[in-house]
Amino acid sequence: MSIIDQISKIYQEKFEHTPAHIARAPGRVNLLGEHVDYNDGFVLPAAIDRATYVAFSQTNAPHSTLVAADFNQQASFSAESISTKTQADSSPLPEWALYPAGVMWSLMEEKLSVPSMNAVFASDVPRGSGLSSSASVEMAYVIAWQTLGGWTLPSMRRALLGQKAENKYVGVNCGIMDQFASACGVENNLLLLDCRSLEWTSVPLPEHVSIVIADTTVRRKLTSGEYNKRRAACEEAVRLLKQDLPMINSLRDVSVEDFNRLASKLPVEVEKRARHVVEEIGRSDQAQALLEAGNIQSFGRLMNECHASLRDLYEVSCPELNVMVNIAQMLEGCYGARLTGAGFGGCTVNLVVNERVGDFVKVLAQGYESETGLHPEIYITRASSGAELLK
Ligand code: GLA
Repeated sequence: MSIIDQISKIYQEKFEHTPAHIARAPGRVNLLGEHVDYNDGFVLPAAIDRATYVAFSQTNAPHSTLVAADFNQQASFSAESISTKTQADSSPLPEWALYPAGVMWSLMEEKLSVPSMNAVFASDVPRGSGLSSSASVEMAYVIAWQTLGGWTLPSMRRALLGQKAENKYVGVNCGIMDQFASACGVENNLLLLDCRSLEWTSVPLPEHVSIVIADTTVRRKLTSGEYNKRRAACEEAVRLLKQDLPMINSLRDVSVEDFNRLASKLPVEVEKRARHVVEEIGRSDQAQALLEAGNIQSFGRLMNECHASLRDLYEVSCPELNVMVNIAQMLEGCYGARLTGAGFGGCTVNLVVNERVGDFVKVLAQGYESETGLHPEIYITRASSGAELLK
């Protein structure tokens, strides 16, 4: 049974009528520009064909009742209970409910109408895998409330409100990339976003290559703490570099040449973190031209360099991710392979020539399993459209 059929069935059983609407919002995979969105850099993600789906209808009840089919749990909250992160019965919201509740809070802050809803949702974006399952939940609920509230916002505004929910309500200090990709996805295209100006464009994925996602099945631990430490190191680098470069506002403003000249003035760890960011912004800056010229070989090399930098300088990889990447990079037909997303576990992204994809998946799975004893999940993904109302 498809996810849509599953949530519709659960909805019918629970609320005793057919859901009026279905919304869908995809996860994302990032090809280049990692840990640079919060440094005003360029990112190159794509929305993927795995998504969160919400079946929902408006209700006259004072509170919204949400069923998380993946957890077999339900939560209820209202405009009154939202600021205390509690349910209608005063108990604390379960963790999964912070994402939709955060969206409601963020929309209310904008004075947008957020009618009560009954909803059932589920997702095939694996959680904690670096594919932005949280952003997909947020974007699906923005669409749901937009549908019931009778207002319409441009997709980038919706992404920003989802990010605000995650930053200010859930308490994860993420950048804009994930919500952007989920909100603005374009079928068969990569998305190139300038995280400073928020201007973006789409770049077609060359027809002869496939995006392969390889899930190590290792799940992130302590991610938000480590993530926030990386952000803090970047801010510290800007503070220190400002002594010589008073005009800079973020690491985006620092050229590789200036950085090399001044690097020795930074504490060792701060220097490593900032070097990753400055060089990665340089790499992602080249992406569009390489893709438009069809130079996938050079683009893939940048992906490989990105992985090495995330492993050695930013230090957000883990042994299993390195095993997955090392094997992939040696396989025929693989242009580039690297960890994708925040790191510390989760997935790798691989660009593979179509004719070799079958063998690539097989040999990568065997190699990874024999080195780690873990059974990976490896699949070809399609760049998909962004969050939308299906019904
Ligand atoms: C997470 C965050 C994004 C981005 C990536 C790393 O996915 O949510 O904003 O910072 O990590 O590139």
